[in-house]
Amino acid sequence: MNIRQSISALGAAVTVALAGTSHATELEVTHWWTSGGEAAAVAEFAKAFDATGHKWIDGAIAGSGGTARPIIISRILGGDPMGATQLNHGRQAEELIEEGLLTDLTELAEKEGWKDIVNPSSLLDACTLDGRIYCAPVNIHSAQWLWLSHGAFKEAGVDVPKNWGEFVAAAPKLKEAGLQPLAMGQQGWQQNLAFGTITVAVAGMDAWTEVAVNKNAEVAAGPVYKEVFEAAAAARELAKGSNVQDWNLATNLVITNKAGGQIMGDWAQGEFQVAGQVAGEDYTCLPGLGVNEILDTGGDAFYFPVVKDEETKKAQMELASLLVSPEVQVNFNLKKGSLPVRGDIDLSSANDCMQKGLKILADGNVLPSGDMALSPDSQTQIEDLMAEFWSTDMPAADAQASYAAIIEAAE
Ligand code: GAL
Repeated sequence: MNIRQSISALGAAVTVALAGTSHATELEVTHWWTSGGEAAAVAEFAKAFDATGHKWIDGAIAGSGGTARPIIISRILGGDPMGATQLNHGRQAEELIEEGLLTDLTELAEKEGWKDIVNPSSLLDACTLDGRIYCAPVNIHSAQWLWLSHGAFKEAGVDVPKNWGEFVAAAPKLKEAGLQPLAMGQQGWQQNLAFGTITVAVAGMDAWTEVAVNKNAEVAAGPVYKEVFEAAAAARELAKGSNVQDWNLATNLVITNKAGGQIMGDWAQGEFQVAGQVAGEDYTCLPGLGVNEILDTGGDAFYFPVVKDEETKKAQMELASLLVSPEVQVNFNLKKGSLPVRGDIDLSSANDCMQKGLKILADGNVLPSGDMALSPDSQTQIEDLMAEFWSTDMPAADAQASYAAIIEAAE
């Protein structure tokens, strides 16, 4: 190649490079997916976004949703918005939407027919305020699962329980074998998740709806909830000695056969998967604690703060569209352990636990999540109460009275 050819080849290369990058936009995306399974799942989003020529700048915030949400919200309120952010759709973003700080996605959603694709429709409703859509839902996650270690029950010499009653009955044997019956991270949201799951199992869906959705304080203070609080106090005994903080450390106690079980959301599934364990062989998952096969349809969704830059706006819309697209939905949810937001994709490769979840969804045995039913204020008050209840000897009756008072004041 002579010098003229080299110069023109170089020119062509520069032009190609520029053409490839001229619309490439860096988008900072905040989320709180930092456990092994979660990180593997969110990497699927980043990979798909980067493949469009844009760049996913990962803004993972360690801790939990409780740590991350205030940081995310204050950045948006304070005029330092990220390109996109995870939140649990429902009421967490209400204030930001009312302030006009989040992008209206209605046009994109209509163009792509999200209303016909997203299933159940409550997921999109939770993104909607005054008829406008403000988020792209990425999964249906559910809280009501009991994860059981086959190894721990083998060591204790008892069969793997098929429901919560059998689990409670087997707990003394686990203790005798020097094992932790119930693994529990010492954070209010985890203790509240366990409480909520026990509530649906003990009180049933109608009573739960009456309290969480209709804010009926009489039911919260009544005899059915008395049983719930007593069952929670019994579970508290089984969780004594479980001193870990993060939920995934508690899951790890189950994975390593040090604890019999953990009540945790479907995201625990991602941890078992990363550890190479097989559902039905190494562990069992019982939706609804094996009592009421019911799941809530909470979930994660991405919101897009209003920005001035046109290129960033375009990249935001591309990401929103990508997140609900079939391939990305499958790849992400298979790693996350959650269910996809669309019913029109092939999930035959899903494992035992995910198949159970899909069946419950198909049967329509679903309820809204706490994030959808209660304001963030009420949720925080309940989580604080649960943190105190689970880490002290607070009598069940006192906890019930405080709980009923929160429900009474809830909006
Ligand atoms: C939830 C989140 C889930 C999840 C879990 C634990 O708030 O929505 O997707 O993984 O926290 O980090």
